[in-house]
Amino acid sequence: MKAAVIEEYGSADRFVIKDVEQPGLEDGQILVSNRASSVNPVDTLVRQGKTKLITGLFGEHIIGSDFSGVVVETKSKKFKVGDEVFGFKNALKGHAYAQLVAVDEDNAALKPEGLSFTEAAALPLAASTAWQGMTDDGKLQPNSNVLINGCTGGVGTAAVQIAKHYGCTVTGVCSTANVEFAKTLGCDKVIDYKTEKVPENEQFDLYFDATGNYTISDVKNNIAPDGMFVSTRGGMQDVKSTLQGAADLLLQSKMKIVHVKPQTADLQKLQLLVDQGKLKPYIAATFGLEDLQQAHEMQEKGGFTGKIAIAIEE
Ligand SMILES: NC(=O)c1ccc[n+]([C@@H]2O[C@H](COP(=O)([O-])OP(=O)(O)OC[C@H]3O[C@@H](n4cnc5c(N)ncnc54)[C@H](OP(=O)(O)O)[C@@H]3O)[C@@H](O)[C@H]2O)c1
Repeated sequence: MKAAVIEEYGSADRFVIKDVEQPGLEDGQILVSNRASSVNPVDTLVRQGKTKLITGLFGEHIIGSDFSGVVVETKSKKFKVGDEVFGFKNALKGHAYAQLVAVDEDNAALKPEGLSFTEAAALPLAASTAWQGMTDDGKLQPNSNVLINGCTGGVGTAAVQIAKHYGCTVTGVCSTANVEFAKTLGCDKVIDYKTEKVPENEQFDLYFDATGNYTISDVKNNIAPDGMFVSTRGGMQDVKSTLQGAADLLLQSKMKIVHVKPQTADLQKLQLLVDQGKLKPYIAATFGLEDLQQAHEMQEKGGFTGKIAIAIEE
């Protein structure tokens, strides 16, 4: 099978298309003839070698998280050959930038019928992050007042649609160029972060920071007394200083960091929302597996709306 391989970590020009051995299947796994993937920010970090203490110091790597394709072999009772599926692999394990992907049965669900493989592969990791971050961590309540920082990115576009599905009033924060797009997504109010700040006296039941730029100390005045702050960024980069960390600790009952997990149950909820016309993927550009360099460079440059998709030939 063909895969985009990086022989060593580094810049986006490291991808080489190679014939590699197809993955073996373990019990509880399915082999997916993968027709599409997408680019997530974490994939670029893995490619750069920023996670190499976990992903391995040496050797070739196939990276990529999202997949969508057809089951061609199964050691799972949950899926049969011919099922069209979507889902994502743990980004640190990767292997989705390939024609065949071995997937744990709990990391996949049936693909929404109305979506192409390319459209379906734009949803799993980003939309699961929005779903888990807002409903599990943020305890999103119907008709509440929600702020979504970074509302036009992969996570943000899904977050806005999920919040609107809950009947929430949504304030979206994005750059000047994307204000009109944010309105078409469904934001009731849009704040252009280049020219405006979130008003100090405005409070939200859920402040969802889909950029991971803020700590709770930065935004505490904008969180309602029973409200929650949820950020997509984990790890020590959240702690701008020890002092900041201590202040965050005092407020920790009001904050959560999302650690997205591939889960069939959540993918099925996304599938349902798509089927109901409540959630759709927004694709800024589609590249082939052989054009991953451009796809990763576009992700690193930023400034686009939605997701970058990768179409994979059979
Ligand atoms: N913890 C987890 O489990 C998890 C899971 C998924 C993603 N993440 C993280 O979440 C973040 C977003 O992921 P993504 O896939 O949505 O990335 P993305 O598609 O690249 O979107 C990032 C968005 O952030 C916006 N942005 C940048 N600077 C901003 C600012 N100062 N104020 C407001 N918005 C700003 C960008 O909009 P403009 O172009 O308009 O500036 C862009 O739409 C990344 O850091 C990613 O690593 C974490």
